[in-house]
Amino acid sequence: IESISTNHQLKSLNTFGISATCKLFYEFKDINSLKEILSSDIIKNEPIFILGGGSNILITKNFDGIILKNSITGIKIISETQDHVIIEVGSGVNWHEFVLWSVEKNLSGIENLALIPGLVGASPMQNIGAYGVEIKDTIEKVFFIDKKSKIEKNLTNKECRFSYRNSIFKNDLKDKVIITKVIFKLSKHNLNNISYGAITSELKATNKVANCQTICQAVINIRTRKLPDPKDLGNSGSFFKNPVIEKKQFKEIQIQFPKIVGFQHSKNHIKVAAGWLIEQAGWKGFKVGDIGVYEKQALVLVNYGKGNGEQILKLSKKIQESVFSKFNIKIVPEVNII
Ligand code: EPU
Repeated sequence: IESISTNHQLKSLNTFGISATCKLFYEFKDINSLKEILSSDIIKNEPIFILGGGSNILITKNFDGIILKNSITGIKIISETQDHVIIEVGSGVNWHEFVLWSVEKNLSGIENLALIPGLVGASPMQNIGAYGVEIKDTIEKVFFIDKKSKIEKNLTNKECRFSYRNSIFKNDLKDKVIITKVIFKLSKHNLNNISYGAITSELKATNKVANCQTICQAVINIRTRKLPDPKDLGNSGSFFKNPVIEKKQFKEIQIQFPKIVGFQHSKNHIKVAAGWLIEQAGWKGFKVGDIGVYEKQALVLVNYGKGNGEQILKLSKKIQESVFSKFNIKIVPEVNII
């Protein structure tokens, strides 16, 4: 296969902007070229890594194997009813472009997820979520190629076992499949999910009535103010997940730290704002060499230019340790470390 390149530079392919190489690199544009590369002798004994938008990874060393870059495109409406539209989207489509496409057509369901970096194919993996909405609320089915058999299979929403930043693709099917397309069900009526306070404030401030377009714009405004654009500053969004702890423990911590931020997660569990914990542990705005903790959102680690993955990983461990010693809460990375 001619289009395989060697010693490929990954700097522009990960939003942290980390300089590293991979032994082999191949971009697949459709299912057939994916099947072809998976069956070829060249990669028989090579570790494989599927790269999407590179927005949720931390590369800590050169990759000694083949990176397959997903470029399967296409958005198409496959059926509709009076209230809903079923849409098939290629896993290599840029997530935000799909959000803009839906909003333009007045289809509601994913407007709260505007400006999340990455590709459509990665969205079910970690059940992307923001501003009161998770992708699991709109997914019908996920199609993928089984790496071993090279056969295309699919799972229904329920079979994907979605939960907070988690799914079967991060567990039982981890490293075993490659997502090829995702089927979404969007609503023809505005869902107006404005449960998240910041959206209501933003709509008010800009004097807008809620609909999928104004909510989308509100989210774009909020995110642009709070989160760094990888084009200007290397980052991978939230570096850690928000930890879920028992209500009992939360109440105990509250005695000493009455301002701790937490949200009801389930009957007996509270999801704690890791950004708050990290800020209280003194890390917000911290900078060493070319890496640091973003000054406006402590959950985001940043690369000012020449930082490397090892340094960021080391910093993340220090943050974990200090949060643990101050609050007795374990925080774990949300990004995939490779
Ligand atoms: N907070 C602080 N200090 C900080 C950061 C946050 O005190 O430095 C407090 C805020 O004041 C707020 C609370 O923590 O009371 C929550 O902050 P925010 O609304 O910024 O959301 P988050 O919990 O930090 C999560 C997601 C984001 C998503 C936002 C909005 C995770 C791991 N992160 O962040 O997702 O955009 O909610 O819904 O769940 C991502 O996954 O990459 C990501 C950016």
